[in-house]
Amino acid sequence: MTYSRILGTGSYLPDTVMTNAMLAERIETSDEWIVSRTGIRARHIAAEDQKTSDLAYIAAQRALESAGLQASDIDLIILATTTPDMVFPSTASILQEKLGIPGVPAFDVQAVCAGFVYALATANGYIKSGMAKNVLVVGAEVMSRLLDWDDRRTCVLFGDGAGAVVVGPSEEPGILHAKLAADGRYRDILKTEAQIAGGEVDGTPFLYMDGPAVFKFAVKALSDIAEKTLAEAGVQQDSVDWLVPHQANVRIIEATAKHLQLSMDKVIVTLPEQGNTSAASIPLAFDHAVRNGQIQRGQTVLMEGIGGGFAWGALLLRY
Ligand code: ACO
Repeated sequence: MTYSRILGTGSYLPDTVMTNAMLAERIETSDEWIVSRTGIRARHIAAEDQKTSDLAYIAAQRALESAGLQASDIDLIILATTTPDMVFPSTASILQEKLGIPGVPAFDVQAVCAGFVYALATANGYIKSGMAKNVLVVGAEVMSRLLDWDDRRTCVLFGDGAGAVVVGPSEEPGILHAKLAADGRYRDILKTEAQIAGGEVDGTPFLYMDGPAVFKFAVKALSDIAEKTLAEAGVQQDSVDWLVPHQANVRIIEATAKHLQLSMDKVIVTLPEQGNTSAASIPLAFDHAVRNGQIQRGQTVLMEGIGGGFAWGALLLRY
């Protein structure tokens, strides 16, 4: 049987850093409030001329390099984003053109902050079924473009960035199990509802969030799906070497780690310097931990993500 495994990782953060102190000069907030409620200290903001595909391109190149592969070795691109370059074509198609690999199938996945887990689970299915060999999976976002910079309840939370992995076939597992879920009944607690209609933007184009409702939903949903993923894979909690959670709020991360009886020194946390980068947050954290030597080959890693939709998922892998 063919399994899939991660062959290489890469990521990219834009140069401009916006600290809490910089935000406090513009709106009524403070470093103390933001750090104590969220754990966030700073976030990276894309330059005006940088689009999601530009961030994705750099992360993808770094992932290819770390996998020891060329772009021409890739036979499928799956890109998770909430902030596509345009309504269509897909950002994955634009990335494919930048990578210079015409003909390779490419599509976007929209599951907001759960997008990367959805995309990686999809890549796993393609490889296991023999429909693809080497898949480039990217999570890339310019969340800064969806923010109302006068709304202190949301603008302090998000940042921009991209992360990527190359996944390929393997005799040994690899990706052990993935579990996805969605519940559209909760779509109104976290959304950007605007659409383009009749040549105009119809509805508010800014991110809206009912913070306390999202917090409550996220802790329960993530705890449940992580537990079920481990049970279905037949893996004990204490066999997990690393938890790589979606980086939205350190209190959500701590609560889910506690539920899984994982101490925080087994949890990858990049949130303080990056904020919530939506679909990019898990691959950014994963690449960070691989490059600094925390996550090593052969170790067991649990990824978990949740976002608007609501959509959520967990994925267990042996790196
Ligand atoms: N600075 C100062 N005060 C603020 C700020 C700010 N940046 N933002 C809100 N406040 C104020 C509010 O106006 C309110 O004041 P009021 O009582 O006078 O009206 C007070 O702080 C409390 O507001 P709450 O929204 O109740 O604050 P809470 O403690 O719930 O923290 C937060 C807000 C951090 C958003 C929290 O609810 C949370 O983390 N929710 C999870 C949502 C999340 O992580 N979303 C990320 C995207 S979703 C995802 O990725 C899963």
